[in-house]
Amino acid sequence: MIEFFNVSVKSKNRLILREINLKIRKGEFVYLIGKTGAGKTTLLRLIYMDLIPTAGNVLVDKFSSSNIRKREIPYLRRKVGVIFQDFKLLPDRNVYENVAFSLRVIGKSRREVKSRVLSVLTQVGLNHKRYHKYHMLSGGEKQRVAIARALINEPFILLADEPTGNLDPEASKDILNLLEKINKSGTAVCMATHNYKLITWAPHRTLLMEDGFIKQEIDPDNLNQILEL
Ligand SMILES: Nc1ncnc2c1ncn2[C@@H]1O[C@H](COP(=O)(O)OP(=O)(O)OP(=O)(O)O)[C@@H](O)[C@H]1O
Ligand SMILES: [Mg+2]
Repeated sequence: MIEFFNVSVKSKNRLILREINLKIRKGEFVYLIGKTGAGKTTLLRLIYMDLIPTAGNVLVDKFSSSNIRKREIPYLRRKVGVIFQDFKLLPDRNVYENVAFSLRVIGKSRREVKSRVLSVLTQVGLNHKRYHKYHMLSGGEKQRVAIARALINEPFILLADEPTGNLDPEASKDILNLLEKINKSGTAVCMATHNYKLITWAPHRTLLMEDGFIKQEIDPDNLNQILEL
């Protein structure tokens, strides 16, 4: 479903990713860990093709980084949902509008938009707050809105770049619980995080990055070792 073949990324003559080979299968849950600057965000950007590799190839569903056209990128983005540490929501819109936005721009009918938005808001447990303004939401709720928005086109994978970075421990656990629920319903999840405690609490395949390289794949049964990293 997602495959990296000898992928390298160079920026200003410095290699920021080196020879990455990686496969993420349908319905998998994968953590990306490693020190700041290790290359986690860069790797995620390659998957939603916000970045094209300098060498090698990234396959995502039927799209290939080596020949994808600019006008195909929006179609790829419907298959790949993305959430971030800082939510990236529209501050002047309410919950409903934030989630509906991307369906409106692709010209879906009002009825279709409504049914889809209510369905994803129910999925993230926020339907009752659909007319609340952005600034009235807690951090955990904002992240739920972002997750709902990312799920609106029924992507096959959800990418999460440090999704609990701005949340307290309890809200972080809630978000991870929600990501696990989404994963159990069939959507793959790839999450970059510094929150190692959270990983040991909900173990999954874990890739340790260092200096632009996947240094080690850590067995889910053996995750306690990462608390010493
Ligand atoms: N657009 C860019 N131009 C130049 N260098 C970049 C760019 N984006 C990232 N880098 C560099 O690439 C390396 C990897 O960065 P990346 O953001 O992928 O790390 P990260 O693992 O996500 O770190 P963090 O845990 O801090 O989020 C860093 O050395 C960074 O400075
Ligand atoms: Mg990062």
